[in-house]
Order: sequence, then structure tokens, then C-alpha cells
Amino acid sequence: MKRTLLLATAIAIGAMATAATAAGLPPLEQKDRYKVGFAQMESNNPWRIAETKSFHDTAESCGWDLIATDAAGSAAKQVADVDSMIAQGIDVLFLPPREEKPLIPAVKKAKAAGIPTFLVDRSVDPNAAKAGEDFVAFLGSDFIDQGKRVAEWTIENFKGDKGVIVQLEGTTGSSPANDRKKGFDDRIAEDGRFEIVASQSGDFARDLGRQVMETLLQAHPDVNIVYAHNDEMAIGAIQALELAGRKPGDDVLVVSIDGTRDALQAIIDGKMGVTVESSPFFGPLACETMKRYAAGETIEPWVQVKDRIFTADNAAAHVDEAY
Ligand code: AHR
Repeated sequence: MKRTLLLATAIAIGAMATAATAAGLPPLEQKDRYKVGFAQMESNNPWRIAETKSFHDTAESCGWDLIATDAAGSAAKQVADVDSMIAQGIDVLFLPPREEKPLIPAVKKAKAAGIPTFLVDRSVDPNAAKAGEDFVAFLGSDFIDQGKRVAEWTIENFKGDKGVIVQLEGTTGSSPANDRKKGFDDRIAEDGRFEIVASQSGDFARDLGRQVMETLLQAHPDVNIVYAHNDEMAIGAIQALELAGRKPGDDVLVVSIDGTRDALQAIIDGKMGVTVESSPFFGPLACETMKRYAAGETIEPWVQVKDRIFTADNAAAHVDEAY
């Protein structure tokens, strides 16, 4: 009986090692507790705070001894945080890379140290590091589609003859900033009513979004649409517009991405038109994917998260569950 069990376990471990090592990835043992690293990039907005909380909330039920760090907005610190986690002997790494390029050496170093890495919410430059080779998988949303859906909603709901658009971009060099811009720009260009007159980074931050909007308003007083790559910058833009005597939701359409509580409230208040969801609640998905990997499953390179859309039709129904 004992021998049969041992044999079955040995076969299972063998299968696990084969699936992972066939792809050149470090295998992950099945066990009750794991030392898990989560290297957060910053904690300056509700989205990041909700994501970190989701990992902490998942830790006990998933058997994680969690080491969570905060790189305070510095890719260099995020690299150093990963280094320190490797030195502490983590079993698994969950990493949201702040920008697409600077974190690539950290991803490769984790692999060289035998640590399976899952990128969560943001990805790296696919020409320099690949899912299924350098890291196990990317868990996250389709950022191009998010931008495209905002553009489609804008095309359907903008009432004027000529849409003069200011775009507030996210962190320069980050995958959501690159992809949300592409998705929106490509789709909006298909409708001749719209022109993007300015596109500038507000680093996904509310206060910077407000400052950038203040400056762009002076250069483009005729703006009547603001597309922000996240809700925090959209709220900052609303503040700048109101300070300048404009009426968001009335003479300026504000459209965005994330689904934060403040954005849903702004939609309810009539100041914002739409926010396409980008969920920060990655803890449970991270747990499930890690366990599938430990069980020897080949993980799909992109574990895609499906996003909802929030407008005046449903914001009130979701505001209480928002973060
Ligand atoms: O990577 C996802 C983006 O990062 C969210 O839209 C933003 O709010 C966050 O900082």
C-alpha cells in the first residue's frame, strides 16, 4: 500500500518536472506551504493597494508565507526587491513589472535561481522575455482591448460634431500605457470626427494627472474629451477641469479605465462617462494558477482576465463593492 503510494507520488513528481523542464522552466514542488514573493511596484493609488491586499488576503488559504515589498515607484528598487527575495529563498515569484524593459534581468535571474515566476497585471517586452520560457505565464487583462472599448464607447456616446481629445497616458514604458494607447488610438482614428490633440504621461497618478491636465488645458482650451489611462488620472483631470471653470460630464466627456470607487461615484455624479474595468484582485487567480503549475499542468502563456464596463447604467449597482 505504502509502496504504491510512494510510486504514484514519484510518478506525479516526475510528470511535474517533465512538463516544466520540457519548457525549460523551473518546476514547482507540491507541498502544504510555499515561501512566496510579491514585489509590488508602488502603493500610491487605490488600485495598487487593492492588489497588494488581495495577495495578503489570499496568503493563508493558499498556504503562502508571503514576502511583499513596495518599490515606491522605482523600477530599480523593484529589481533590488526581487534580488532580495531570491536571496531569501522564495519558492515562487509574483511580479507586476513597473515598466516593460528594466525588470527583464530580474525575471531571468529568478529563472536562473530555479524560481518559477508569474507576471501579474503588467507584462515585459515580449521580444526580450517570453512566457513559457523565461517566466511561466502572464496573468492579466487585455490592455489593447480596454483602450479599444473606451474608444468604441466614446464613438457611440459623444454627442458633438468634432471631438477634441486630450489623452493622459500611464507610466512611460509600461505595458498598460503602451497598449491602452494603441487600442484607443487605432480605433478612434477610424472615425473622422475625432482628433487627439495632445497625449502626455501622468504616470498613472492622480496629482500628476491634474497637473498635466492643467497645462494641456491652457494649450488646448477647446478640448471636449479626456481619455485617461486610469481612473486616478481621470479624477485628477476632473479636478483641473473644474478649477478652470469647465463642467466635466457636461462640456467635457471624461473616459477612463480601472473601475475604482471614486470613478464609479464620478459616473453616478454625471462627471465621467465610462470606465472599463481592470481588476486588481489577483490573489485568488495567482493561487489557482500556481497550484495548477505545481500539479504538473502546462500553463497557458496568457491567463487572461475578463473585464466588465461601468457606465451610468450600472455604476450605482457596483459602487459598494469597488475599492
Ligand atoms: O497595471 C494596471 C494599472 O496600473 C492600473 O490601471 C493602474 O491604476 C495601476 O497603477
